[in-house]
Amino acid sequence: MANVTFSSPKIKKDITVYATAGDCSTLLALAKTHKVPVEFECENGECGSCAVEVAILGNKQPMGVHLTEKEKTVLKLAGKITKQQIADSEVTDIPPPWRLACQFIVRNEDILVKF
Ligand code: FES
Repeated sequence: MANVTFSSPKIKKDITVYATAGDCSTLLALAKTHKVPVEFECENGECGSCAVEVAILGNKQPMGVHLTEKEKTVLKLAGKITKQQIADSEVTDIPPPWRLACQFIVRNEDILVKF
């Protein structure tokens, strides 16, 4: 079970929802289920409108999560991540903060999502 907290000037206060363990849905799907107004268009990792900043909460070692190829391309084009951050994430398995909500699979760790 993971707590996913959404924070944005677009919502009155932060919204924390629970992602069930073993549920492999995307962050965008979770937001939609709970009516959190994360922007999106293509839902296919191509437009970049769902870019969000993800912070790992707690003091556990962050789980290794690879950026998808689509995230690398779109986030780099949008200026959200650098070539160096992509290279670093491939070595350390620790992803940079900016992710695409439609590509990010929620794992069993507490996160703060800013959009
Ligand atoms: S909705 Fe288009 S990249 Fe996620």
